[in-house]
Amino acid sequence: MEPNQNTANDILTAGKHVSCWYEPSVQFKTYPALKENLETGAVIVGGGLAGLSVAYNLSQAGIKVVLVEDGLIGSGETGRTTAQLVTALDERYFEMEENFGLEKTKLIAESHQAAIDFVERTIKKENIDCDFDRVNGYLFLHPTDRSESLKKELEAATRAGISIKELEEVPCVPAEGNCLCFSNQAQIHPVKYLMGLCKAIEEKGGRIFTETHASKIDYTGIVSKDGYIIKAKHVVVATNAPVNDTYAMMLKQWPFRSYVIGALVKKDTLPKAFWWDTGDHTIKDCVPYHYVRLHTYSNEYDLLIIGGEDHRVGNTRAEGTTEEDRYSLLEEWTRKRFPVEEVVSRWSGEVLVPMDALAYIGHNPWDKDNVYIVTGDCGIGMTHCTIAGILITDLITGKENKWTKLYNPYRFTLKASGPFFKMLKDDLVSVLKKWFYTDTVELSDIQNGEAKIVELEGQKCGAFRDANGHLHIVSAECTHLKCMVVWNNDEQSWDCPCHGSRFTYMGKVINGPAINDLQAYSVPY
Ligand SMILES: Cc1cc2nc3c(=O)[nH]c(=O)nc-3n(C[C@H](O)[C@H](O)[C@H](O)COP(=O)(O)OP(=O)(O)OC[C@H]3O[C@@H](n4cnc5c(N)ncnc54)[C@H](O)[C@@H]3O)c2cc1C
Ligand code: FES
Repeated sequence: MEPNQNTANDILTAGKHVSCWYEPSVQFKTYPALKENLETGAVIVGGGLAGLSVAYNLSQAGIKVVLVEDGLIGSGETGRTTAQLVTALDERYFEMEENFGLEKTKLIAESHQAAIDFVERTIKKENIDCDFDRVNGYLFLHPTDRSESLKKELEAATRAGISIKELEEVPCVPAEGNCLCFSNQAQIHPVKYLMGLCKAIEEKGGRIFTETHASKIDYTGIVSKDGYIIKAKHVVVATNAPVNDTYAMMLKQWPFRSYVIGALVKKDTLPKAFWWDTGDHTIKDCVPYHYVRLHTYSNEYDLLIIGGEDHRVGNTRAEGTTEEDRYSLLEEWTRKRFPVEEVVSRWSGEVLVPMDALAYIGHNPWDKDNVYIVTGDCGIGMTHCTIAGILITDLITGKENKWTKLYNPYRFTLKASGPFFKMLKDDLVSVLKKWFYTDTVELSDIQNGEAKIVELEGQKCGAFRDANGHLHIVSAECTHLKCMVVWNNDEQSWDCPCHGSRFTYMGKVINGPAINDLQAYSVPY
C-alpha cells in the first residue's frame, strides 16, 4: 500500500446531511484562506459560535483578533444546532445543586440568563437580522422518569433564581399532563447570527480566514497546514473538542450524537415555543431526551424542528438501533404529539458532555497562561459558547469575573467522578477491541455505499466503496490516541468512539480532539 496525498477538501460541513439553516435566504459570506504570516493580539481557532463569540467580545474590547476556521463559518456543530437558548439545563437543577451546592447553582443559572440577554443585546446593537424570538419552554415528564422529578426541579430551579412555574397541561400537547414552564428562553437562526458576528468583528479590524487548518498550536500562536504562521499574545482554541489537548480534557467528557428532523406544520397551528421531555431513563450511559422548536419556513408552513435519540458516538448498534433508524423514531415520537406533515430535513451532530454537565472555559490546563480553551458544550452549547465569549475576554483583559472558578477547565468534581472512571474503562475496552479485532472482510465483499474495517498488510484500515464503486482506504487508527474508528453510515464519516474525533471517508479530520488526518492510501483495487 502506498501512502496517498490526502486531497479531501470538498466536505465543508461536518457530515453528509446539511441542516435547515443553509437556506437560500441566508447571506452566507465566505472568507479567503490564510496566505501570509501575521502577528496579532489574539488568534482564535474555530469559526463556530464559541470562536466567534470570543472574537467578537475581544474585538469590542479593543484587541486585534485573527480567527482561523478549517471549514467554512459554522461548518462544525454550530451549523447543526437547533439553536435553543435556554436556562433549562441538560442536567436538572436539583442534580446541579447536589453536585455544586446552592450558591454555585445560582451562579450557573445567572450565567445562562446573562448569555441569553447578551445575545439579545448584541443582535440589537449590531443590527443582526437572525429571527431572534423570546419564547417559553415546556418541560414534561418522559414515561420512564419518576413523577417527583418535576416537583424537585420546580423547587430547585426556583431556589436558583430561575423564572419558572408549573402548568396543569403542556400547551399544544395536553395529553402529556402537567409541565414546568421556563419563561424568557430564546431562539435564533444560528448561521445568520454567526454572519452578524463576523461583520461586527471585521468592522473592528478583526480578520477571518476559512479553509485554514491550524496544524500546530502553542502559546506563541499557530501554524497552518500550508505553513503560514500567526504569532499572537493570546491563543484561544474554540474547536469544540480542543485540538491542542491530548489527555487533560478528553477524559473528562463524553461524545454523544444527537439527531434532528425538520417537519412542516401548517402556519399558525403552533406558537413559537420549546418543548422538552425529561428523557428516557432506561437507556444506559445517557438519558436521551427530545427537544422541539418552531422556525418560520414559508407563507404556508412553519418548520417544527425536533431533536433527540442521542447515543454515545460509535455505539449506536450496541443499543440495537442504527443511525438511520433514529430519524424514524424521532418522526414517530413527533407524529404522536404534533400535527406535522412532510419531513423535509434531517441531520445529526455531536455534543460533548462533561462529567459534571458544565462547560470547561478558561486557561488550558498545564499550558502557558495565555492559552485558553472552550469545550464541554452539552446540549446547551449556545449559552455555554456565549458565556465563553464574555469569560475569556475578561480573563484576557484582566477583568474579574465571578464565573471563572465555576467553568475552570482544571476542575475535577469528585461527586461527579463516576463518568471519568467509566471513560477510562471504555477507552481501555476500545483499545483492546482494536488489538483483538478479527473480522476477516475481503475488499471485494464491500458493496457500493458500504464501509468496513479490513486488515491490509497487518494494518487495520477503514475501506469505503463510494456510489461509483471507487474504494477509499484510510488507516482505522484515530490520530488522537489510536482507538479504532467506526463507520457512521448516516453522515458517511469515520467516527472515533473514544473521544469523538471524526474523519471524512477520505481521512480528513472534521472533529477534534484529533488534529491530524487519517493516513489515506491509494490501492490498486
Ligand atoms: C444536533 C444538535 C443540536 C443542538 N441543539 C442545541 C440547542 O438547541 N441549544 C444549545 O444551546 N445547544 C445546542 N447544541 C449544541 C451547540 O450547537 C454547540 O455546543 C455549539 O454549536 C458548539 O459551538 P463551537 O463553536 O464550540 O463548535 P463548532 O461549531 O463545532 O466550531 C468549532 C469549529 O472549529 C473548527 N476546527 C476544528 N479544528 C480546527 C483546526 N485544527 N483548525 C481550524 N479550525 C478547526 C471546526 O471546523 C468547527 O467549525 C446542539 C448540538 C447539536 C449537535
Ligand atoms: S478521539 Fe481520542 S482516540 Fe480517537
